[in-house]
Amino acid sequence: MQRHFLLSVGFLIMGILIFSQCTKNHLPEPPICYQTDIEPLIVSNCTQSGCHNSSEQVAGYDFSSYTGIIKAVNAGNYKKSLLYKVLVIPAGNGRMPQSPAEPFSDYQISLVARWIEEGAIQSLDCQSACDTTTVGYNGTIAPIMTTYCTGCHGGSQPQGNIDLASWATVKPHAQSGSLVGSVRHANGYVAMPQNGSMLPECSIRQIEKWVADGAPNN
Ligand code: HEC
Repeated sequence: MQRHFLLSVGFLIMGILIFSQCTKNHLPEPPICYQTDIEPLIVSNCTQSGCHNSSEQVAGYDFSSYTGIIKAVNAGNYKKSLLYKVLVIPAGNGRMPQSPAEPFSDYQISLVARWIEEGAIQSLDCQSACDTTTVGYNGTIAPIMTTYCTGCHGGSQPQGNIDLASWATVKPHAQSGSLVGSVRHANGYVAMPQNGSMLPECSIRQIEKWVADGAPNN
């Protein structure tokens, strides 16, 4: 009996350690951009009819703009912010978005938490924080591939038979959608980097921009 108890406590502590390690790994690189990372996420998930839109303001909250969103935020302290708390409490105890809507993913929760920790600022200069205007294969994409991908997807026997070490071999995966799908951890794709943390949000956006441009050899 006592042994069981000790074992359970051991597993619980292990679980907590693994969990905290994972959430730490999932935290994207700062800074989070309110305009592109936070507002679209909150607006698309919280302002449906019958929810926190400007006309109904259910429970007194209007999450259609920064002015309303910030009322549920304790800037600099995500653990004391209602906006964060409702994302992580169990379904049925007031979790938002309410079921049957899906809960936020760990990654989306980490975006909200990091944004609050960074001071819940509205207008960062997102352009200079993440340059998605001058994205090219040689200057932007190849370095990302070399840093995160070619360890597995390079050499003479690339894993999954996917070679990401040159423009010509990256391009088909850009065009098929699997490059963006895998780094975005989208449904239907194997999440990449395999067994690693998600790429920084900025790198993902740069890949998306390059793919949207037609994956040029520039
Ligand atoms: C630790 C090794 C490893 C790393 C690092 C890695 N991959 Fe992979 N990747 C694999 C393996 C193995 C597969 C085949 C997985 C399968 O088919 O189940 C794969 C599959 C893929 C696929 C096909 C996914 C699909 O759903 O069709 C793409 C695209 C891909 N990787 C892109 C990337 C990109 C981009 C990076 C870097 C950001 C990366 N990988 C980093 C091992 C890795």
